[in-house]
Amino acid sequence: MRPQSVRTRITELFGIRHPILCGGLMWLADANYAAAAANAGCLGFMTAKTFPDPGRWKEELEKAKALAGGNPLGVNLYISQRPEENAMLTGHADLALQAGVHSFETAAMPPADLVRQLKEGGAKVIHKVASVRHAVSAATKLDIDAVSVVGMECGGHPGLNMVGNMVQGVLAALRVDIPVVIGGGIGHGRQLAGALAFGAEGVVLGTRLLVADEVWSHDAVKERVVQADETSSRLVLASMRNTYRVIDNETARAVAELEAAGVKDYETYREHVRGTLQKEAYEDGDPEKGLLSMGQSAVFADRIEPLGDIIDRMVDEMDEAMGRLQGLRVAHEAAAE
Ligand SMILES: Cc1cc2nc3c(=O)[nH]c(=O)nc-3n(C[C@H](O)[C@H](O)[C@H](O)COP(=O)(O)O)c2cc1C
Repeated sequence: MRPQSVRTRITELFGIRHPILCGGLMWLADANYAAAAANAGCLGFMTAKTFPDPGRWKEELEKAKALAGGNPLGVNLYISQRPEENAMLTGHADLALQAGVHSFETAAMPPADLVRQLKEGGAKVIHKVASVRHAVSAATKLDIDAVSVVGMECGGHPGLNMVGNMVQGVLAALRVDIPVVIGGGIGHGRQLAGALAFGAEGVVLGTRLLVADEVWSHDAVKERVVQADETSSRLVLASMRNTYRVIDNETARAVAELEAAGVKDYETYREHVRGTLQKEAYEDGDPEKGLLSMGQSAVFADRIEPLGDIIDRMVDEMDEAMGRLQGLRVAHEAAAE
C-alpha cells in the first residue's frame, strides 16, 4: 500500500489513505472486493442487492471484516425505480450497521428514509447521482455527508443528460458545498490529480476495477475488458429513460435494434435485460451475454492484476502529475525578470 500523499475532506470523512472510492458493482462487489479496496487504502462498497438472503448477507459482511484487517468497509445500497426491489434495503442496512460498517454509498432514487436510518446508526453516507442538478438537490434536501457525481463516460447508469466530466466535474464542485467525488471514465492517476484540480475531493471507480484479481468474474470477461478501448462500450435503453453504458456485445446490439425499431413494450426487452443474465455471463465467461456495465475507462484496464496494484499505480501517476504541475509553476520573482 502506498503512503498517504493527499488529504481531502473525503479521506478524512471515511478515514482512508487515498481519495479513491471503489463503487458498488452489481454481482461483483463482494467481501473480497471491499477488503481488497480496504487493504489498498481505499473504501470499497459491497453491493447489498447481490446478496438478497439476509443470512448470506451477514456471512459476507463477516467475511469482509475478517479480510479487511480493521480498515474501513463500505456498503452500496442501490435504490431501484421499482419499489418492490428496495424492500430488502432497510434490513440489509441494519445488518451492515450491526456488523460495524459505517460507510454507505446510496445511489439512484433519493433515499430520505434510508438516509435517516443510516445516520441514526451513526453512519457516513455518500449519495451517487448522474447530474449536477441532482447533486445540488441531494446535497440540500438529504442529510448526507458527501455526494458523488458520475459523468456520461461511466459504466452502468450515466443518467439522461450525457454531460462529460470535463464540464460536469468542475460544475459539481462549484455548485455543491458538501464534499464532491467525481466518477466516470477514471482509470489513470492523472485524472485523479485532475479531479482534485477540478475541486473534487476524490474519485469513484467502477470499470477500471473489473480486471482486478479479487473480482470473481470469469477471466474471459476480464480479458474482454483488457481488450476494450475507449470506444468499446455502447449506450442502450435511452428510449426507456434508463440509459445504460455497457459492453458493445450481442445483447447490447439486440437491444439497440429493438430501440431503433421503436419497440416500447418493456416485456419485449426483458429476455435481454434481466440481471441474472449478467450473473451467468460472469460465471460462464461469456462476454456476449447480457447487458454488462462497462465505461470508457476500459482503455486504461490493460491487464488482470491485484486491485492493490491498480491503486498503487494510480497513486504513483497522481503524484507524478502533481509534481509535473508543480514544476510548471512560474515563481513571481522569476516571471518578473
Ligand atoms: C459492472 C458494474 C456494475 C455496477 N453496479 C453498480 C451497482 O450495483 N450500484 C451502483 O450504485 N453503481 C454500480 N455501478 C457504478 C459504479 O459503482 C461507479 O459509479 C461507476 O462504474 C463509475 O464509472 P466508471 O465505470 O467509468 O469508473 C456499476 C458499474 C459497473 C462497471
